[in-house]
Amino acid sequence: MQNILGLLNIVRTNVIKGFHLPILIVLFVMIMLVSAQEPLRKYADQVNLNIGTTVGSAFYQNEQMYKDVLSREFNTVVCENEMKPYSLQPQQGVFDFTTPDKLVAFAESNNMKIRGHTLIWHSQNPSWLENGNWSRAELLALMKDHITQIMSHYKGKIFEWDVANECITDGNNNILRDSFWRKIIGDDYLDSAFNYARLADPDALLFYNDYSTETINSKSDAVFNLVKSMKDRNIPIDGVGFQCHLIYNMDNSFYSSVEENFKRFADLGLKVAVTELDVRIEKPIDQSKYQIQANDYRNMIQIALENEKCNTFMLWGFTDKHSWIPSFFQGFDDALIFDRDYQPKPAYTALQEILEDAATEIKADTYNINNRLMVNNLMVVIDNKSGMYSHLDLYNLNGRKCKTWPLLKKEGTFRIHLTNENVSPGVYILSLVSKTKIVTGKVLLR
Ligand code: G3I
Repeated sequence: MQNILGLLNIVRTNVIKGFHLPILIVLFVMIMLVSAQEPLRKYADQVNLNIGTTVGSAFYQNEQMYKDVLSREFNTVVCENEMKPYSLQPQQGVFDFTTPDKLVAFAESNNMKIRGHTLIWHSQNPSWLENGNWSRAELLALMKDHITQIMSHYKGKIFEWDVANECITDGNNNILRDSFWRKIIGDDYLDSAFNYARLADPDALLFYNDYSTETINSKSDAVFNLVKSMKDRNIPIDGVGFQCHLIYNMDNSFYSSVEENFKRFADLGLKVAVTELDVRIEKPIDQSKYQIQANDYRNMIQIALENEKCNTFMLWGFTDKHSWIPSFFQGFDDALIFDRDYQPKPAYTALQEILEDAATEIKADTYNINNRLMVNNLMVVIDNKSGMYSHLDLYNLNGRKCKTWPLLKKEGTFRIHLTNENVSPGVYILSLVSKTKIVTGKVLLR
């Protein structure tokens, strides 16, 4: 951006001085080159982020534009319905991988990773399984067989599985949902599911996934207690997925709570993942609502990038042409980042900008901010020769102040050893403050 402004300045100066057309054309081409932005996955690869989307029927119907945008923009995919129990084991003991294998082949040939969704759920089960008259031992054996067959088939291909989906009830009394799994096996059915999954593919990351758990609330408290208890009892769980089906225009307190919530799960030593993000808009929809929606996407990706335990950021679809929203939420639509003609919406640009910034920062090891601040991972060196600067502030990308270091008006060079300062890795804004001047810059600290 700075480069573009600089070039625009040169153009303006030269126009004033009466420079002729060829020079302006060369400068225009330079501007275009500087501002050429890359697909999301290009930046995501640089910051080690799995940026992905669910993939639905348009893929299997060979909609070419759908496939082109999918492989151009994303480095990760997840099946919308095709790896759910009703689809993979339609009859007892008969597993059918034909359809999802097409996506797996596509992903492999396009260098994309694959999430698995979902092994155990109360919904979208084959009727033979859900309505069978099973004993506890029989249902445990069926669970083990289902998990083992599927994870073995995809061993080494699927890096991360939703082992269990949506097992906690809504409302204020958040307990284990009374699914047939729980009714027949008992409250420990999740322990068994995760144990079977670890045995089937020891290298896959095992996730618990749920909705309306993004913020700190009674449901996320219940999930927190559930997974903490599993960790405490050495049940092999690696991460928690937050679906994130949002309504546009969430306020700042919502995002602060999401950030805090992700942090408390990460502090348990678990990975956290955004697994199904979409941001639905209430009709009638106009461009101004798209701008607000962009801000929601921007906030979510910032939270993900700032949390060192979050490497997976999945959308529940990418084009408004194909989305589950209108058939499930009357009066809402346009929840995704491309429109119905596969044109990027402001939400796409927001993700792209944040990812580009993060990728740019990660390349720099040492930052020189206005010749006043030199920063690397070990140290901040402040040039305070004039003695005018009174303190240095460290903010996170949401504008929250994390630390202040007073400079005590010391003249000369001032050093802060970051290794002693307990600053967690992430992207921050540093502000060097005096009564009349502020020097500020963005840095990545690892
Ligand atoms: O398979 C039938 C097909 O035979 C029939 O012709 C067609 C007619 O409507 O329906 C098809 O089934 C639909 C299925 O998607 C496949 O397209 C179901 O009616 C429909 O209810 C089902 O919806 C899916 C929903 O999960 C089921 O709960 C959505 O596509 C899918 O996006 C959605 O995904 C869930 C995640 O798995 C978990 N988190 C929430 C997320 C959104 O609900």
